[in-house]
Amino acid sequence: MNTLFQPYRLNDTLTLANRFMMAPLTRCMAGPGLVPTEQMAAYYGRRADIGLIISEAVIIRPDGQGYPNTPGLFTQAQIDGWKKVTSAVHAKGGKIFAQLWHVGRLSHPFFHQAEVLAPSAVAFDGTVPRMRKLTYQVPRALTEADIAQLVQDYAQAAANAIEAGFDGVEIHGANGYLIDQFLHHSTNLRSDNYGGSPEKMSRFALEVVDAISARIGGDRVGIRLSPGAYVHLEGSPEDRAVFDYLLAELNERPLAYIHLGIFDDNLTFDYLGGRASDYLRAHYKGNLVGVGNYDAERAAVAIEANRFDLVAIGRPLIANPDYLDKVKKGEALVPYADTMLAELV
Ligand code: FNR
Repeated sequence: MNTLFQPYRLNDTLTLANRFMMAPLTRCMAGPGLVPTEQMAAYYGRRADIGLIISEAVIIRPDGQGYPNTPGLFTQAQIDGWKKVTSAVHAKGGKIFAQLWHVGRLSHPFFHQAEVLAPSAVAFDGTVPRMRKLTYQVPRALTEADIAQLVQDYAQAAANAIEAGFDGVEIHGANGYLIDQFLHHSTNLRSDNYGGSPEKMSRFALEVVDAISARIGGDRVGIRLSPGAYVHLEGSPEDRAVFDYLLAELNERPLAYIHLGIFDDNLTFDYLGGRASDYLRAHYKGNLVGVGNYDAERAAVAIEANRFDLVAIGRPLIANPDYLDKVKKGEALVPYADTMLAELV
């Protein structure tokens, strides 16, 4: 367990106080204009002893929204709101990255009165959570000009994150949202420069990584990926070659880390030959963040066995703002319950 509490050097720019990360956790609590609130600042500030906090997913522009009251990073008021959050974390010696998000086909015009955009015109079968009367629509397939604009918008959101005081950004490339929709065959039916081969299916993700890295420096950029599809889209065996290619390309880029996107790391995927975390470890040379139903003890065993380098903790940190202190002292944790999502404790 001791290793978990020792400082960890991510790269020349960033050294974390310990190997714990706070997993990104959408809370749907932003104020009018999707501006972060004082309550959010206090909530993140209470968790500043975690080595690196990843913020709840933050939308890069209006049509990236898929749920009510998710905060943004595209207006000055939003940037100013986030300054309160980053100041609260920094005042206690913590570090925080913004998770940059566009939901792609999981958006709805209800939120922005605009089109729903995605790699291909394939709808997600279902209704918007928390807003069950809204059925997902067939998205419009992005043109190459739309894609070029999106890449710029990601880079601008990253620059805005730095202006807001964040220590870096995590690109949300996981969980079936926009970037992930390019990486899987069930949602990418394109036959232009952005689909049809592993190289072309990876192009959008890599363009976003490169544009953001050029803007703020790759040492401040992480990416979350779900090579094993488990939510919001169907995986297929051909997806494996896409991730093999993408990870080989990411090995050439000096990023801060890759973070697995999953809810339970015990899940196995035939086409990955087992757990997604083990697949990432075998193919990616840089820092790897494990996640998904870990407690500190099992995380320590996994890190000791060199299965990953850092662990992200999600639900236990919703239930226990003093998670780290309790774990250090061996005290019992409050068990997580979905009802806790109603309030920022
Ligand atoms: C999540 N998760 C998540 N993931 C992400 O990449 N961006 C997000 O905004 C969210 N939001 C979110 C909200 C809530 C309420 C939950 C429970 C989960 C997934 C999360 O980061 C993590 O991968 C899982 O919760 C698994 O870790 P734990 O909870 O088992 O430690």
